[in-house]
Amino acid sequence: MITLQNPLDMHIHLREGEILKSVLAFSAKYFSACLAMPNLKIPLTDTNKVLNYKKEIQSLANSLNCDDFTPIMSMYINESLTKDELIKAKKAGIKILKLYPKGATTGSENGVEEILDQKTLEIFEIAENFDFILSIHGETNGFSLDREFEFGEIFKQIAINFPKLKIIMEHLSDRRSIDLLHKYNNLFATITLHHITMSLDDVLGKGLNPHHFCKPILKTPKDRNALLELALSGDEKVSFGSDSAPHLQSNKLKQNGAAGIFSAPILLPKLCEIFEKYNKLDNLQKFISDNAMKIYDLKNIPNKKITLIKETSRIQDSIKIDNDCIIPFLANEELSWKIKEN
Ligand code: DOR
Ligand code: ZN
Repeated sequence: MITLQNPLDMHIHLREGEILKSVLAFSAKYFSACLAMPNLKIPLTDTNKVLNYKKEIQSLANSLNCDDFTPIMSMYINESLTKDELIKAKKAGIKILKLYPKGATTGSENGVEEILDQKTLEIFEIAENFDFILSIHGETNGFSLDREFEFGEIFKQIAINFPKLKIIMEHLSDRRSIDLLHKYNNLFATITLHHITMSLDDVLGKGLNPHHFCKPILKTPKDRNALLELALSGDEKVSFGSDSAPHLQSNKLKQNGAAGIFSAPILLPKLCEIFEKYNKLDNLQKFISDNAMKIYDLKNIPNKKITLIKETSRIQDSIKIDNDCIIPFLANEELSWKIKEN
């Protein structure tokens, strides 16, 4: 048995409308807070859009009896973001700005074309002065397996030029990013469940598996192992961010299928399984909560305790949505840990 205090998921796609209704319970019941990503169909590029989305999440969470769940909001950076808008966002309590390189992933069509362009640098400067946290999907448009590594140079430039700005390297996937993370005081990272449990072979080694297709793409077993080791170590620069990203099955299976792995239904039991396997259960609390509390300076999160027990259960095969469905990560497989329901 293990009890986790205030589990936090610092990177999640909760979506909107019907999908939000179908997926929110997996996060709101078992996590104290989640950082909701802003790449909706209409991206959250201003304060009002972010606040409306926050209300949508909160009212749904309340209807699930999850008043103790805090959605942490992020705002989508595009080149036309103004200083006034940033100040308005700050006053409204928005602390995180999310940067997507244009075209890098799902919902990044409105992202930033030239990251080190004058206009974007001005946004970074304001972000630094107003104490925002800059969350970055760090990928170039180069060769798939090198995209994160190539983006390292941009992380380095931003880290050096804005030393007081906290920068989050989201969903680390490449072991070459780890040195960079440790080299600059203002760089931090999130790590997903899928990048510490799978490699590219799980996407295309035994026939194509679209449900394991995500961005950044899964890499080599060496990358997986290095990231697993980093997560297991409880390193204080690293928080858990699932990047759980639900897509309708029809969108996963079509040509140019959608990138994203829907891991929300299994996160805490699967993490217990992994940390136990490597004899590191003692470090799970840091990875799942304590590190993020410090990095993101989280306060006023209602106290929530989640207890997990060793008991086998089977992961559901799908979640129905109208005539379609969402397939969860590891559908139909067994878990050896289970959340103890109150
Ligand atoms: O695989 C991914 N899916 N990576 C991302 O960066 C975005 C996400 C999504 O929104 O579907
Ligand atoms: Zn994401």
